Amino acid sequence: MTPSYPVSRPRRLRRTAALRRLVAPVSVRPSALVQPLFVKEAIDEPQPVVSMPGVVQHTRDSVRKAAAEAVSAGVGGLILFGIPALKDDRGSQADAADGIVQLALADLAADLGSQTVLMADLCLDEYTSHGHCGLLTADGEVDNDATLERYASIAVAQAVAGVHVVAPSGMMDGQVAAIRSALDSAGFPDVAICAYAAKYASGFYGPFRDAAECAPQFGDRASYQQDPAARDAMREIELDIAEGADIIMIKPALAYLDVISQAAAMAGLPVAAYQVSGEYSMVEAAAANGWLDRDRVIMETLTAISRAGADIILTYWATEVAQRLS
Ligand code: PBG
Repeated sequence: MTPSYPVSRPRRLRRTAALRRLVAPVSVRPSALVQPLFVKEAIDEPQPVVSMPGVVQHTRDSVRKAAAEAVSAGVGGLILFGIPALKDDRGSQADAADGIVQLALADLAADLGSQTVLMADLCLDEYTSHGHCGLLTADGEVDNDATLERYASIAVAQAVAGVHVVAPSGMMDGQVAAIRSALDSAGFPDVAICAYAAKYASGFYGPFRDAAECAPQFGDRASYQQDPAARDAMREIELDIAEGADIIMIKPALAYLDVISQAAAMAGLPVAAYQVSGEYSMVEAAAANGWLDRDRVIMETLTAISRAGADIILTYWATEVAQRLS
């Protein structure tokens, strides 16, 4: 008898776990995961980040242990964020030779050498007293071109300390070109740039601002980060590639899978996606209430981000997931 439903039966390939595994092209590779690490100056013990259960601000010592653990779990890289003891209006500690990120980078470069990829967030918001990603004009606007000089100097300080990849996240126009030329003229042509190319003004960064103690003291970041409703992602990405980016990043990840997939189709270079603090905390909070199967949802989100086309994923679960997959 002719079946009354279509003869094509996708369920044939879902019948057993072995069949499903055979035909699934997407997988989450530990070596594609990057673990963000926060390191804070002048603390004696790691401090828990309340809005990100399981995440801490590390001491200079404890970040070395966390980094070693991540690397032995098989993660592909680490990205450092620094929290200085003292902040000022120009973010002086961001490029100080003894700034906390420079010290931590040097420690990790000595401990780990080229076993992993050492990345550093390159921005000012963690270092400025006003919490903005750039220098301010007298009337409180973020001054694009004056900020570029600061970014150039931070890039060189991080390179001297041993970074392999700098990750500018401030969304100033021309930042990639300014950083590339500063690195080249300071003798660091091999330090790569992972540009936060499409970075949206997002509510999902909320918990990070606790972790990095960088909430803007007035206003918001909407005049430099992208509008979630705008279609300017490809323009931002093309500019960053033209300016010399080696890797382009989309951020946040889950709410911007369409942008990841467009970027992967056009970029011709590695595409990274940042599963940000709010994406992490949302799952942790629901799981703590027993409302979601935590481990399953973590893998589902990472699989979705990979399926959209991300080659690299920054995630606070990197070490845990790498351990689980190995
Ligand atoms: C800026 C920066 C931010 C994040 C990474 N780099 C904060 C912001 O733009 O407000 C957010 C990361 C996250 O939410 O996990 N230095």
